[in-house]
Amino acid sequence: MNFELSENQKMFRDMVRDFAKQEIAPIAHQMDEEGTMPDELITKMAANGFFGLSFPEQYGGLGVDTITYGLVIEELAKVSAGVCVMLTVHNSVGSYPLAMYGSEEAKEKYLPRMASGEIAAFCITEPGAGSDAANLTATATQDGDEYVLNGSKIFVTNGSRASFYVVMARTPGTTGHKDIHAFIIERGTSGLSVAKKEDKMGLRASDTVSIDLEDVRIPANNLLGNEGDGFKIAMSALDGGRIGIAFQSLGIGYACLAESVKYSKVREQFGKPLAKQPVIGGMIADMGCELDSARLLALQAAWLKDEGKPFTKQAAMAKVMASEAAGRAADRAVQIHGGYGYCKEFAVERYYRDVRVTRIYEGTSEIQRMVISRQVMNEY
Ligand code: CAA
Repeated sequence: MNFELSENQKMFRDMVRDFAKQEIAPIAHQMDEEGTMPDELITKMAANGFFGLSFPEQYGGLGVDTITYGLVIEELAKVSAGVCVMLTVHNSVGSYPLAMYGSEEAKEKYLPRMASGEIAAFCITEPGAGSDAANLTATATQDGDEYVLNGSKIFVTNGSRASFYVVMARTPGTTGHKDIHAFIIERGTSGLSVAKKEDKMGLRASDTVSIDLEDVRIPANNLLGNEGDGFKIAMSALDGGRIGIAFQSLGIGYACLAESVKYSKVREQFGKPLAKQPVIGGMIADMGCELDSARLLALQAAWLKDEGKPFTKQAAMAKVMASEAAGRAADRAVQIHGGYGYCKEFAVERYYRDVRVTRIYEGTSEIQRMVISRQVMNEY
């Protein structure tokens, strides 16, 4: 078993680390304060290929493997989890359904635009269908060579900036997962509108909105896969997405660890640095153990995906372990910083807020445990 990253993987990671340090870190606090992300940053990230990370090269992407993708996500999350989630949603659930299940015509039309920085969003969640995604009620009615979509979607990451929306909707009058279809809709299509923008606790650089669909007419060719494939397309996209959220969580967790080590070496109490006090050393050790073990799971899930092997269980395990380890790391980081950790002057305050949602989106910890337990029950 080889635990070494390849030279290419290390090179890519280092390139992204430098970019994040130079271009994102100086504005991370401001983006959080103002709840915005500058267009110039998006343009620079697009120029570096960040919007087509895993797309095939023939469609303008970089075609990187999933481990490299995870390393990129982790490096971005270390400096801004908000910028990171914009990119991980775009590169996974926002574009994977098109890259995997789109018609050749749709792929040629849209993927190069996505790779060049036109952002993608994923619309499955509704007011009455969150964890129980198969219970969604948005409808898609075929009308000649078009579909007409109606309904409302909520918690859509990238929703206000997106040029493309992957939308799950069902045949009217049906229930269950078998009559759900997946579509791609372009921004500007009549009847698709951005409704409420959420005022979030964390990830404030990234936008999260509701989307209303009112008699939205799209060509039948914008159907992804076949009719009735929508739920499975969404689930398989989320499998990959969960690997990204695991690496995002790890990035935040390692940033908490780095800040805690730095602070504990300079902050003195009882006549010596915190770092020399066993109670603080124990907290740092726990952060290291928990993050490193979750990272092995995330790397394993990414490796399985690259090998073309089943990875649903490992992706769910990686997400639950990484998000929970990172949550504990953020909590300990604030504790180590004491009162300063509760103030915005120190980055751990932002990490503490940002990390919370990693246990919620792309499937809550409870849903991951449901997925894992179903698989484990079959194995033993
Ligand atoms: N890949 C492919 N197919 C899958 C699958 C997977 N990972 N998981 C299930 N399926 C298939 C099953 O095989 C089954 O197919 P058959 O009928 O042919 O046997 C079908 O889908 C239904 O499966 P289940 O019976 O397991 O479905 P369920 O209703 O019990 O729900 C669930 C399963 C795991 C709970 C699912 O609803 C789920 O993942 N919920 C969480 C939703 C979620 O993650 N939402 C996140 C929103 S997106 C977001 O947060 C993005 C963002 O912007 C940040």
